[in-house]
Amino acid sequence: MKEKIKQLAARFHSETVEIRRHLHAHPELSFHEKETGQFIARKLGEHGIRHEHGWGENGVVAYIEGKNADRKTIALRADIDALPIAEANQVPYKSQNQGVMHACGHDVHSASLLGVARILDALRGEFEGTVKLIFQPAEEKLPGGASILISEGVLENPAPAVILGQHVLPALATGKVGFKPGMFMASADELYVTVRGRGGHAAVPHECVDPVLIASHIVVALQQIVSRNANPIVPSVLTFGKINSTGGATNVIPNEVKLEGTFRTMDEQWRAIAHGRMRNMAEGIAAGMGGSCDFRIEKGYPFLKNDEVLTLRSRQFAAEYLGEENVIDLPMRMTAEDFAYYSQKIPACFYRLGTGNVARCITSPIHTDTFDIDEDSLLTGMGLMSWLAVKELEVF
Ligand code: NI
Repeated sequence: MKEKIKQLAARFHSETVEIRRHLHAHPELSFHEKETGQFIARKLGEHGIRHEHGWGENGVVAYIEGKNADRKTIALRADIDALPIAEANQVPYKSQNQGVMHACGHDVHSASLLGVARILDALRGEFEGTVKLIFQPAEEKLPGGASILISEGVLENPAPAVILGQHVLPALATGKVGFKPGMFMASADELYVTVRGRGGHAAVPHECVDPVLIASHIVVALQQIVSRNANPIVPSVLTFGKINSTGGATNVIPNEVKLEGTFRTMDEQWRAIAHGRMRNMAEGIAAGMGGSCDFRIEKGYPFLKNDEVLTLRSRQFAAEYLGEENVIDLPMRMTAEDFAYYSQKIPACFYRLGTGNVARCITSPIHTDTFDIDEDSLLTGMGLMSWLAVKELEVF
């Protein structure tokens, strides 16, 4: 079976590269993946693969039924949306949508999953059970497509026993993959803080309430949420990435300052406590200094926990397919992923696909305007995922 999958991956590689390049050249933003969804549905249709278009508006769910289709169902997920970044790469498949780019590799995830569809479709007579392929929209933007698809019933009829997802990792060489059982990625909440004072001439501060000074105190004070309030063994991050006043000049104290930031952690109880403490501290500082503060928290994705048993098993299957030397153990990371929603419902495994190639200078990180991949990684992207699916269907 392993050799068959490798042969099929090789056979469908050029087709999958073409698909990836098409998707890369035609990126669409979260919640606007109209043509991407249509393209994926069309590709599945060309090969007679049963699918439903319109999940979460632009998503597609496909089904590959083996023998005894009801025996067991598993799900594989790819995200399909792109980012608001203007591509700087000069490549034939450069983004044709100004200011939009597949800079997070979701074109790779989608193309790989279409490759999986081709491989498993060719092997229908040789495995038992059903593989549900989820092409999910809107990973990059709250509330995220995963929660929408789950509310629409994507984990029912038939209910998958487990779900697997992959994500590009340019820091990892092509041909390698990485796993992390247990806690893997953080919850992420967006912070929007408006500090209000009373503006006026900068030379008469005693007649004003300076929101710049209040905001500065808030930024500094809130650092103790992590350094003095968080349990040191629970990873937490608080970053303010934006601070702007509306108005203001060298000689003008503005009326208002706006802050934007992110809070990330890996413990739901602490997450709720931290929200309250951040708000209290900011409001207290603003009030104490004669101003006021509106502290809005937009709750983002929960933490992503990889099921221990499933992930160790998948890691073992990966080692069988790629060789132990090509499977690495990954650390936790503080980035977030809406795959987390699936992981809170059913056993899940989110692993990373090596897409870098130092010798060919393919090293740019994700979310940069020079991100690209070594397209040989698509061989692993579709081959390994097909192998993991087939092996997982054998598990009872
Ligand atoms: Ni991504």
